[in-house]
Formats: sequence, structure tokens, C-alpha cells
Amino acid sequence: MDFDIKTNEKGNLSIGGADAIELTEKYNTPLYVIDETKIRDNYRRVYESFSSHYNDFKIFYACKANTNLAVMRILEQEGSGIDAVSPGEIYTALLAGFEAERIIYTGNNVTNEELKFAVDSGVIINLDSISALKRLSKLTDPKKVKISFRINPKVGAGHHEHCITGGDLSKFGVMEEEAADVYSMAKDLGFTPVGIHTHIGSGILDPEPFMLAVETLMDVTGRVHEEAGVKFEFIDFGGGLGIPYETEESKLDIEKFSKEITGLFKDKLNEYNLGKPTMCIEPGRYIVGDASVLLTKVNTIKQSYRKFAGVDAGFNTLLRPSMYGSYHHIVVANKPEAENTQKIDIAGNVCESGDLFARDRPMPEINEGDTLAILNAGAYAFSMSSQYNSRPKTMEILIKDGESEIIREREIFADVLAKQNVPIRLLK
Ligand code: LLP
Repeated sequence: MDFDIKTNEKGNLSIGGADAIELTEKYNTPLYVIDETKIRDNYRRVYESFSSHYNDFKIFYACKANTNLAVMRILEQEGSGIDAVSPGEIYTALLAGFEAERIIYTGNNVTNEELKFAVDSGVIINLDSISALKRLSKLTDPKKVKISFRINPKVGAGHHEHCITGGDLSKFGVMEEEAADVYSMAKDLGFTPVGIHTHIGSGILDPEPFMLAVETLMDVTGRVHEEAGVKFEFIDFGGGLGIPYETEESKLDIEKFSKEITGLFKDKLNEYNLGKPTMCIEPGRYIVGDASVLLTKVNTIKQSYRKFAGVDAGFNTLLRPSMYGSYHHIVVANKPEAENTQKIDIAGNVCESGDLFARDRPMPEINEGDTLAILNAGAYAFSMSSQYNSRPKTMEILIKDGESEIIREREIFADVLAKQNVPIRLLK
């Protein structure tokens, strides 16, 4: 198993030095517990390994994975930039203290209002279509914005078909064959494009497709440089670096991965005389995925046609198992080392049959009152949560040196109702 499960002297799960059960007593459940040290370690591991092979290297944290301001402040302190995919994420990143030059906006199917918001914010605009390019040229002085294009390199990969963003089924980016023409068009419209980008998918543990995407993007970059005369300030390979979720999966060998990618990158820079642009990547999951645990309490043990442990979270809290069939390892937080003795379904409290965190999961004895820890719940977890079933969104806390702080209050019913209006005629 390539993720760590620490038990403290009381026999409880320890998260960043804090006792998981004491946290539930203090803050209630469901509860997202984020370990600050892990975020910093993950960031530094990637940054140090890539930059040791190519020193003009930047990370743009894909904040869609977790947009909590405290998490973003940690990454701002580490020196990261931000990959933002919406005006809301740009707004959040600016509020978290990232300068506009450190934010790349990669929208898709963007409206003119969204483009205008990006222009006014001063961020780098990574365009996804010719349509957006043309509309942008009418909204602003092309000399005043930094643009790049997202290229679909025909290669895609990812842990689930919904998470593959390259290839001929993908809605994203500009076709690689079209790239040189699109950059020429941008220049004709008065822009000076400065970058090129791709993102082939999410949850990639096999370096192979990533390498292929790097190779293709570099060949496209070379062609655009030669045919459209573009001088590139940055080349961005997107995110996608996976983490192990299943017990038999292994961590990415980031040292080997970064060495291979930067090696190929440097060879291609020479081959096409591309100078020394900044190399960028946009990891989200790799930075925050294993840094958070979702704690949820078992309230019901039911022997029906099957055996169920019913908990106080649901797919409104953590959607990934229901949405992608994703495996999240689960331990009993009050006895993380107990041996498995049964197979059981772990069910949430949403009123849908698909609301399962696990089916037929080998688990130790589970009793009502036990707390389950759903691991690797840092990426696309809170950020994809909802108020479905009129449930207020849950709480996030941050652990540093064993101490906890609330970084997102638990919502209350009033939050669920906050934006509703009832016409007066319906009040009679
Ligand atoms: N850059 C772009 C343009 C992206 O669209 C994404 C993710 C990333 C970077 C970061 O990818 P990462 O390093 O986190 O794999 N909800 C899904 C994942 C969707 C990812 C969407 N885009 C999940 O829970 O697995």
C-alpha cells in the first residue's frame, strides 16, 4: 500500500499529528481534515524534481481540485501559480494573493462576459477555440493581453472516460493540425501569442501517454514557431499526475518522470530552436489529493439482502465514488489497524441507490458509533460537493503540527435557502 495510515498511542488514526476521533468530537462529522504539511511536501517534491532538470520551471496549481482560500494561501507561499478555469476561480486566486501574471485562465465554451472578466483581471488567457479568439479580439486591444492556445494533441488518458481531455472525442482545445493556422490568425488579429498549452486528462499513473503528449505538443510548438513565427515564453503540459487510490497502485516515481519529461522537452527545444521558454505544469490532484481525509460517522448497521454500514456523509459530500466509480480506501478511524473480517457496503445518506462509498468492501468489524476515514479525499472532493437533499455543505479544517483550525465553517439551513425568493402571490 503506497499511502500512509498512522495510528497514535490511543489506537486512533492520526492525521498530521491530530487525533481523528478527538477532531470529530470537537467539530462533528462529516469533516474534511486537511494536512498542511502534506500539501507543502507534495508541492516541493514536484517543484524540486522538475526544476533540478530544467531551472525555468513553474507550477500552476489547478485550483479546481480544492479552492479553499487557506489551501491556496499555502500554495501562494510556496511560490505556485494558478490554473483557473472560470471567473470564480480567477476571483478566488486574486483574493488569495496571486498576482494576475501568475494565473492562467483556461476556460472552455467561454462567454464574452467571462473573457472580459479575464481581460480586466490581467491574467494570461489560454484560448480553447477560434471562436473565443475572434470574440476576444473584439473585446480588447490585442496588444494588451497575453494569450496562448490549448492544443488537443490527439492523445488522451485518465482514470475514467469523463476525465480524458485529449483525443478525437474531447471537446477541449484546438486540433493540433490546425495550430499553426490558429496562431497565424491570432497574429493577424494583432495578438502576440506567448504560450502553448495542453492537458490530456486526469489521474494518470502511467508516464507513457504523458510522454506522448509532451512529444506531440513540442512538435506542434516547433511547427508553430517555424510556420507562424511565434516566439514562445512558456510551454504548459497541463496537469494529470495521478496518485494511488487503490491499495495495489504505486506512487508516481516523480524523479524518473520529471527526468524523462524534461529530457524530451530539452531535446525538442534544441531540435526546433525554441530558445529557453518556461516549462509549466498544472497539477491539482497530485498536490492536494492525499492531503485530506473525510471523516464520517457510522449511524446505522443494517442487515438487509446485503450488509450495510450507513454513514452521515453522502455523494453530496464526496461525489467521486458515485460519479466515476472511484475507489477511496476506507479505514475505521478508531481502530485503523484492525483486521478485515467481512465484506460490507458502505452507504451514504443521500436518497439514491447510487450513493455508495464502497460495495463489498473488505473491512473490519464495524459498529454504530464508529468513525470511518475516507482517504485521499483532498482533490475534487469538497470542490465537487453539493447541497443535494437540502444538506448544508460540510466543514473543512486544516492541521498544522497537530493543531487544528477551521478553514471553512459548516453551512446551516439558511445557507441552503439563501438565494431563494418566493413570489408574494404564493405566500397567501
Ligand atoms: N489543467 C487543466 C486544464 C485541467 O482541466 C485539469 C483538470 C488540470 C489541469 C488538473 O488535473 P489534475 O492534475 O488534478 O489531474 N473531477 C475529476 C477530475 C477532473 C479534472 C478536470 N481537469 C476527478 O475527481 O477525478
